[in-house]
Amino acid sequence: MFRQVVVVIAVLLGLGGMLEVLERSRRVNITARSGYSYISSRIVDDDAEEYYRLGLTPHHSIAVTTLAGDAVVDKTVLHGRFLHVTDFHPDEMSKIGASFENRCHRKDKQALPDEVMHRYGDAMSGCDSPLELYEATLQWIRDNLKDKIDFVVWTGDNVRHDNDRKNPRYEGEIFSMNEKVAEKMSSVFMDDGEEDTMPLDRRVKIVPSLGNNDVYPHNLFAPGPTLQTRELYKIWRNFVPTEQLHTFDRGAYFFREVIPNKLAVVSINTLYLFKSNPLCDNCYNRKEPGYKLFQWLGFVLKELRKRNMKVWLTGHVPPVPKNLHYSCHAKMSVWQHEYRDIIIGSLYGHMNIDHFVPLDSVKSWRTIEKRLGKLDYETYGDDDEKDDLETYEAFGLLDDDFEIERGSRRYDNAPSGKVSYLEDVRDGLYAKLKGPKKAGKDGERYSFAHVTASVVPTFNPGFRVWEYNVSELYSSEEQIYEPWEQFFARLEVELAAADSQDTLDIEASKDKTIPPIMPADLPLGPAYTPQLFSPERYTQYYVDLDYAAKHPDWKFEYQVEYSTDDDEYQMDSLLVSDWLKMARKLAKSATVAADDVETAGAKKLWKTYLNRAFIDTGYQDLPVANK
Ligand SMILES: *[C@@H]1O[C@H](CO)[C@@H](O)[C@H](O)[C@H]1NC(C)=O
Ligand SMILES: *[C@@H]1O[C@H](CO)[C@@H](O)[C@H](O)[C@H]1NC(C)=O
Repeated sequence: MFRQVVVVIAVLLGLGGMLEVLERSRRVNITARSGYSYISSRIVDDDAEEYYRLGLTPHHSIAVTTLAGDAVVDKTVLHGRFLHVTDFHPDEMSKIGASFENRCHRKDKQALPDEVMHRYGDAMSGCDSPLELYEATLQWIRDNLKDKIDFVVWTGDNVRHDNDRKNPRYEGEIFSMNEKVAEKMSSVFMDDGEEDTMPLDRRVKIVPSLGNNDVYPHNLFAPGPTLQTRELYKIWRNFVPTEQLHTFDRGAYFFREVIPNKLAVVSINTLYLFKSNPLCDNCYNRKEPGYKLFQWLGFVLKELRKRNMKVWLTGHVPPVPKNLHYSCHAKMSVWQHEYRDIIIGSLYGHMNIDHFVPLDSVKSWRTIEKRLGKLDYETYGDDDEKDDLETYEAFGLLDDDFEIERGSRRYDNAPSGKVSYLEDVRDGLYAKLKGPKKAGKDGERYSFAHVTASVVPTFNPGFRVWEYNVSELYSSEEQIYEPWEQFFARLEVELAAADSQDTLDIEASKDKTIPPIMPADLPLGPAYTPQLFSPERYTQYYVDLDYAAKHPDWKFEYQVEYSTDDDEYQMDSLLVSDWLKMARKLAKSATVAADDVETAGAKKLWKTYLNRAFIDTGYQDLPVANK
């Protein structure tokens, strides 16, 4: 049953005075044609000062009124903004004055004054978040950002690390902490008056994904359905659409429509792709949960494309060669590429380092081709790169922050070797990026993964707010598609059928975990050309914990660390072409000999990039940074 729905939205970026007039003129009465709905919009007049203070763009939001016939069925504001927050790691055992040596759990008479925990925690101490940091962070977000965003991407790790031998974690504690944080997230982003609303219908949509420390023992997650996937569904019931219960049970992945019929966020369970999960080996064997994850992702992306929707991919562990099995990495990359008409980008946490990583579709296709025989795929000309595996091997296998070699006493358990990691990213990935001839005019050979700062004070606590294009939602005729319940019922049947096929060597052409080539007549999506939902800029927030420790009377607040369009980064928008430009410039900073203006500029940019990567802690200048 398809009903026609007409969506009319005014094009309105500009002067406040004209807006009311325009809105009235744009609103068309179509009561006579029953079954039609209307949406009309205008820029919301907001307190510009408040937005400038927060490093955000004022007058960016639009009011949306949905009419069914003559009746107003919904009135809401679309801000064109979302929050990405990750790695809270709240630690109920942390105590002010407890020593770093004891994970901030117990005091130690030997500890020097700068080796003990302060009220909001200490960067580079190796300790998790004091409850006060976690609570004050969410309160600050509620007071300052909640009313300015449409949805929240929340990429996991809500439990302390398992790094205190005297107090090992146990399963009950992990479930219970996840439950507490989920309840808190629900209430923090609830608008006044929404108490009686079904959580899934609330204005601010929240999309969690599973972290490697959210499971017991850490990193280890079995293929579903298991007790863990069921428990997790209960914990996330306020975030996971009911009709996805069964697919969720397969492996704790799901998606949400964050703007109904327009924009979705996919939550990927990256633990099935993660090298450190001992229960997963690769993504090419049909029995592997990572393989099944891509099967599911394929169905979902196909449906979202059919519905003309756009989508963000999100998850905990980013697709960096050191993290993922190469077959999982390659598949992630080719899916992001072949759905470049709808995928806006991908968002991750886990690393605690603010940085971005390119994915090269040509290399990834080659990796897949090697494994599965010849495939017909689009190339951008001959590539002289030898082997993709070399890239993987060039990346040293860095361990988790808390399993590192011992440094000086002050930095026991603290991060080490992270500058070397970023240099690997620069020299192994940024420096290898091809020019426009091989990358495509809009850089469509590539896609990007964005890793944000964590709340946990590995470095300083941070998170970011993205702003995206909502200035124009054009007048269009749209179909209403089958209800999601029906889609998921069908999907269940198809996935079950795929499971029962026991052909081991299925033909590449039938392998649903390998994406179909994007049809040539589809235009590039919001990641590549400016359009609805294109990312425009983001603002990164942080707390200077060292300052907080030295000023006991300081009132807790996050401050703007930087925005992507500031004097340093000077990014006018956040399209793939902008990231390519940025990455190429950063790569140039490694040039040794040249003493020209351009190289000097690149070196300065690299310094800024490092400082931001470690959230203004100055970590990059410490001896442990390069180890
Ligand atoms: C729309 O048209 C209907 C029927 O002609 C009329 O009753 C109603 O008042 C109109 N609504 C508006 C907002 O003009
Ligand atoms: C936003 O998208 C519209 C098309 O919907 C486009 O015309 C406009 O240039 C975009 N704005 C920016 C700032 O890129």
